[in-house]
Amino acid sequence: MDIQELINSYKQETDISKKIAKLREIINICVHYYYVKDESLISDYEYDLLFSELVKLEKEHPELVTPDSPTQRVGGEPLKEFRNVPHKKPMLSLSNTYSFDEVKDFHRRVLELLGNEPVEYFAELKFDGVAISIFYENNRFSLAVTRGDGFVGDDVTLNIKTIKNLPLVTKEVSVNGGVIRNFEVRGEVYLNVADFHKINEERISSGEKPFANPRNLASGTLKLLDPRQVAQRPLRVVAYYLDTDDVKLESQSRNIELMREMGLPVSPYSKLCSNLDAVFQFIEEWKEKRHTLPFQIDGIVIKVNSLDQQNRLGTIARSPRWAIAFKYEAEKATTVLKKITLQVGRTGIVTPVAELEPVFLAGSTISRATLHNADYIKELDLRVGDTVIVEKGGEVIPKVTGVVLEKRPPDAVEFVFPEYCECGLQGRLVRLPGEVAYFCEHPECPWQLRRRIEHFASRNAMDIEGMGEKVVDQLVTLGFLKNIASVYELHQFRDKLIELERWGEKKVDNLLEAIEESKKRPLHRLIFGLGIRFIGEGAAKILAKHFNNLDNIMKASKEDFTSIYEIGEKMAESLVRFFSDPKELEIIEKLRAYGVNFEEKEEFVTIGKKLEGLTFVLTGELQSMTRNEAKAKIEQLGGKVSSSVSKKTSFVIAGANPGSKYSDAVKLGIKILNEEEFLELIGAEKPKDNFANKPESNTLFD
Ligand code: IVH
Repeated sequence: MDIQELINSYKQETDISKKIAKLREIINICVHYYYVKDESLISDYEYDLLFSELVKLEKEHPELVTPDSPTQRVGGEPLKEFRNVPHKKPMLSLSNTYSFDEVKDFHRRVLELLGNEPVEYFAELKFDGVAISIFYENNRFSLAVTRGDGFVGDDVTLNIKTIKNLPLVTKEVSVNGGVIRNFEVRGEVYLNVADFHKINEERISSGEKPFANPRNLASGTLKLLDPRQVAQRPLRVVAYYLDTDDVKLESQSRNIELMREMGLPVSPYSKLCSNLDAVFQFIEEWKEKRHTLPFQIDGIVIKVNSLDQQNRLGTIARSPRWAIAFKYEAEKATTVLKKITLQVGRTGIVTPVAELEPVFLAGSTISRATLHNADYIKELDLRVGDTVIVEKGGEVIPKVTGVVLEKRPPDAVEFVFPEYCECGLQGRLVRLPGEVAYFCEHPECPWQLRRRIEHFASRNAMDIEGMGEKVVDQLVTLGFLKNIASVYELHQFRDKLIELERWGEKKVDNLLEAIEESKKRPLHRLIFGLGIRFIGEGAAKILAKHFNNLDNIMKASKEDFTSIYEIGEKMAESLVRFFSDPKELEIIEKLRAYGVNFEEKEEFVTIGKKLEGLTFVLTGELQSMTRNEAKAKIEQLGGKVSSSVSKKTSFVIAGANPGSKYSDAVKLGIKILNEEEFLELIGAEKPKDNFANKPESNTLFD
């Protein structure tokens, strides 16, 4: 049936349950065409109308909502943690090969083990993402589990449910008279490179740290506990494995077909190869063509096609004997090294960077590459003006791996690591004994300062949302941030910040709120955030647990530190050096004065968001803030704001002259809060003057 006919039939349907079912079917078909087949059956506008119609009908008939409805892709509340789930069969990994000779060896072993039976291979792209195991029960999506350690993974069902190219209901497909209803598919969760860049650009402009590559982004996203955040990221799934007890399965190529028929997303780029030459041809074909794909692959997977043969071949250690991965060599190119510049890293380490004549490599043009450290440059005997070899290993960050000596110009000069930092303060670049890294010695080096503040505010340290690289850079440049303690003085610049381009009241207040909130972090985050050399997150936790508060740590001697099993000589020395530096002590005293928590109190370790799980409806005028501000406050504290009152509403906030939502709330028996109570609930200060027109309260707090 064509889609317009289905739409007409849904429109004419009078039975509400059938009408909803038809609407869901239409939406599922449209989503499948859009995300799996790259085809739009209807306009975005029409789609939005149908979807909101379904939302409306389900709201009116909550008893008809089912977990597989397209409206349920993002439901519920964030999880506290993921549940562990054992795998039905272990999730294996593939052994890698890098040459045709190694593939020939694999083929020889296969033939030997199968007693020289004829074998066919199924060649597939090796998607560079995160492995996932997904279960369907009665053709309904029911469970999704990460690979974990191969035996036990995390239940990420709610996150995977948000992925639009994965059907929540699959078509029933029959094989030799049996029907596949209960099955497991395994596949890869990945992102298109364009989506990866888009997300990174957004993160950079909002001051957050960008992801290193699409795989990291996919894996970081799956680890999010809030499915609503996951739904914002355009993850995709590709299925490459099927397992079921419902019917007897025959081959990998047939399984891929079956999954396609069920409506599951499978790769269109696989090939059944009747001999090894066909496999080699496939590998050759994708060597260059892979750069034209919208996603990254990290090789080719070659699988024995017959499942019976696969079973007989079995597995060795954690890899199957019936499959291998062929990895393409890192792509190389040559270009000219124009300059070596310095870049200050997170911990103040100064890293040399190669500035290159732009060159096209593995699908993109590169003009910079990492040189790691001074010793690396020496080892390669790299000179400005040299023709160098650049490689893209993980295919995102390029590196310089060699020099073409024959092309060295006579005037190429040896690189001498600069004596002074580019910070303008004439800070000397020093190398601590036994280390390869250089640091700027000047205590006020603005480059180091930027990195230190960034680190202090980072997620695993004081976790100040909105205070990433870009923001820190801007605030240091403006002179608003002078050291980590000055983060807590930023409120003095509120008015000036609001005036800045791309800031505004809401953004500034959100940042100030996040800064205020960070004062409550437990001690181990503060210790980590201080940026003491050699003191990583693990050591910070050990110190916090052992000493309980910062004052005890400040008083401790080197021996006190080394008496702790996990704290070594180098760490102890660094701690003593840090806590006897008058500049650092001055900063610490400021942090204390601003009310930063110095204790490892239990209650500080995990504090959930106060309004998590609550839905609010706003009506009338508030005196102390605008409606938008109230909405932002509620959302900041984890609550939701809805525009209409229903049984699901937790509170109606009634300002002066409330509208019909007030009487709706009364009718439905929903708690009504006046402004004063609302302010108390969100922990905000009450304005000095009285609330003139406050409606009668039905007191929440009695
Ligand atoms: S088959 C027994 N096919 O590569 C191996 N894996 O180390 C089952 N991968 O963990 C995997 N694309 O995450 C297979 N077409 C493909 C694949 C693929 C990517 C990943 C998968 C697996 C890893 C192998």
